Parts: sequence; C-alpha cells; structure tokens
Amino acid sequence: MKIAILPGDGIGPEIMAQAVKVLNVLGEKFELESADVGGAGYAAHGHPLPPATLALAKSADAVLFGAVGDFKYDSLERSLRPEQAILGLRKELSLFANLRPAILYPELAGASTLKPEVVSGLDILIVRELTGDIYFGKPRGVRECPDGPFKGEREGFDTMRYAESEIRRIAHVAFQAAQKRSGRVTSVDKANVLETFQFWRDIVTEVHKDYPGIELEHMYVDNAAMQLVRAPKKFDVIVTGNMFGDILSDCAAMLTGSIGMLPSASLDASNKGLYEPSHGSAPDIAGKGIANPLATILSAAMMLRYSFGKAEQAGRIENAVKAVLAQGLRTADIFEAGTTRVGTEEMGNAVVKALG
Ligand code: IPM
Ligand code: MG
Repeated sequence: MKIAILPGDGIGPEIMAQAVKVLNVLGEKFELESADVGGAGYAAHGHPLPPATLALAKSADAVLFGAVGDFKYDSLERSLRPEQAILGLRKELSLFANLRPAILYPELAGASTLKPEVVSGLDILIVRELTGDIYFGKPRGVRECPDGPFKGEREGFDTMRYAESEIRRIAHVAFQAAQKRSGRVTSVDKANVLETFQFWRDIVTEVHKDYPGIELEHMYVDNAAMQLVRAPKKFDVIVTGNMFGDILSDCAAMLTGSIGMLPSASLDASNKGLYEPSHGSAPDIAGKGIANPLATILSAAMMLRYSFGKAEQAGRIENAVKAVLAQGLRTADIFEAGTTRVGTEEMGNAVVKALG
C-alpha cells in the first residue's frame, strides 16, 4: 500500500500532517512518500507538477492530496499556476470519476446557512466527470474571430465535448453508487441548449437500461442549482459533467456549512485514486494552526475504503471523527458558542485518541 503524500500549498502541509498521523496509528503497513506539488512544486522545481512528483503519483497505489494555490502564484502564466498540478494529475492518471459526498453531521446542523429542517440529515453524493468537458476540450485559446458580427476582433474560446465512452463510464459509476444508497440518480445537464448535453442525456438514458432497479431523473443545471438550495434532501446521487459538477459540488458542500469537513475521491477505472479535501488551500490562514484537518482525515478514510478495500479501517476513522464532534471539539470554521475551540494539531490528536 504505497501512498503518495502531496501536501501542496497554504494549509495543505498542516492538515496533511494530521492525516498522516492518523494513518500511522492504524496498525497497517503503509509506505508513505512525500513530494512537492502546486506552488510548492513551482518554488522548488519550477513546475507545479514536477516530473518526480508525477512519477511518484503514477507508481503509488493511491495519492493523498492536500490543497494547492496561493495569491503569490496568481500572476504566473496559466501552465505554471498551482491549479495545473491537480488538473495534470487527473488527466495523467485518468481519474475520471470524482465522488464528492455532502453530508451534514447532526452536531453541525447550526453551521449551515439554511434552516435546520431543510438540511438536517442531508446525505448526497455528487458524481462529477473529471477528465472531459470544456475543461480539457480542444481547440481552446485566444484568436482572431473568424466570422460573424465580431469578425476580426480577438476572442477567447473553449470547446465543450464528451465522447460516448466517457459518458457511459461515469454513468455506470453513478448507477452503481446509487445501488449502494437509496437507488435514485439525478443526471444534471443543459440539454435544452447544448448539443453536448443532449447527447449526455441520451447516453445516460441508454446506460440506465442496465439498471432497472434504479430510478433516473434528468434535470437542467439551472433548476438543479435552485433545487439544491430549496430542497436538497430530495437528491441522492447526482451525476454530471466536469464544469457543472465543479459548480454544483461547491454549492452542495456549502449546504452543510462546513466545507472543512468534506472529503473527495477521484478514481480511475481500477479504483486507483487521488483523495483530497473539498476545500482549497486557504492561504489567508496558512501557518496559523487553525485549519480544520477533518476533511483530509476523512479523505484518508475514503482512500482506505475505495483504493485499499479496507472498509473497516475507514469506518474506524469516520467514527473517530464523529466522536470528536460529539465531544464538542471544533476548529474555528465550525466553532459555535458552547463548544470547545481547538487548533489543527489538537484536532488531529483528538482523532488519534478517539481511534483508541
Ligand atoms: C475543484 C477545483 C478545481 C476544478 C480547480 C482548482 C482547478 O475548483 O477541484 O473543484 O475546477 O476542478
Ligand atoms: Mg471547484
């Protein structure tokens, strides 16, 4: 069980240290190897995804990823910006299936900006396609506009596209995930306007024939955004493309009021995966020791479940996290009156202790 540890930038190293601590007390034989990524990769090796980091990620059985990005790299040309590290890893490792659970822990119901009755008990899973769509479609760039009313002007352009097999494989992931949950899938598209997403809808409908026990609903993305804040508990599994999934998963995460709690997995066809917290690198609080390490710790749990088939160990970690919440321990992002405010390291130590 070789794990590539890529802490990255901002709060990445602090939160990763806590997840590593948790992995080390499970009594399993992990081989952990760290490497620079994102801004840290650029600073040390001149590239956000240095060749040695990519080689390590390829040779490992799973990747545990912190977060990338910092204001100081915002002025670099696009190909050198920290975000290219995560996009590059997704593409290079063919991590096409992004699982983003949004779960509201009962202890944290007050953290949501929505009314408790709208969100209490929320448990949805966003299945986002991760290696296609307008994110990677070619051609793209800035060119001289070839025709139409703006002919001769400069224009920026990207290409939205999905191959049939790309849609099929992500649809299978969603239907199979639904089989283990409540049996409902909502496929989110923009079939009323976009050719790519009419095609998406047609293919998802075809794949659905293999899953007679699963209920499939199609929904336009604008309506899905509205329903997510109006009645989020009506959803179970949401499957969608790369761009819509990016947007809706942030929305879903915020329903819980605690993005600092949410893990995610990005899997290839054989369940090799990259695991990362759903939140970003939060450079504004980096180094202060106040970041919430729980999303990274829960990402390690997802890794044990999906890449290593160790559901029992994953459950141990998840229960330990529930236990520290029940003890009233809170990092600043989820702090409420009547609870105990702790720092990053104290939170990590509390999880280790709760593991027994
Ligand atoms: C995410 C992020 C990335 C994305 C960025 C950092 C490239 O927003 O993982 O959702 O757009 O996919
Ligand atoms: Mg995003």
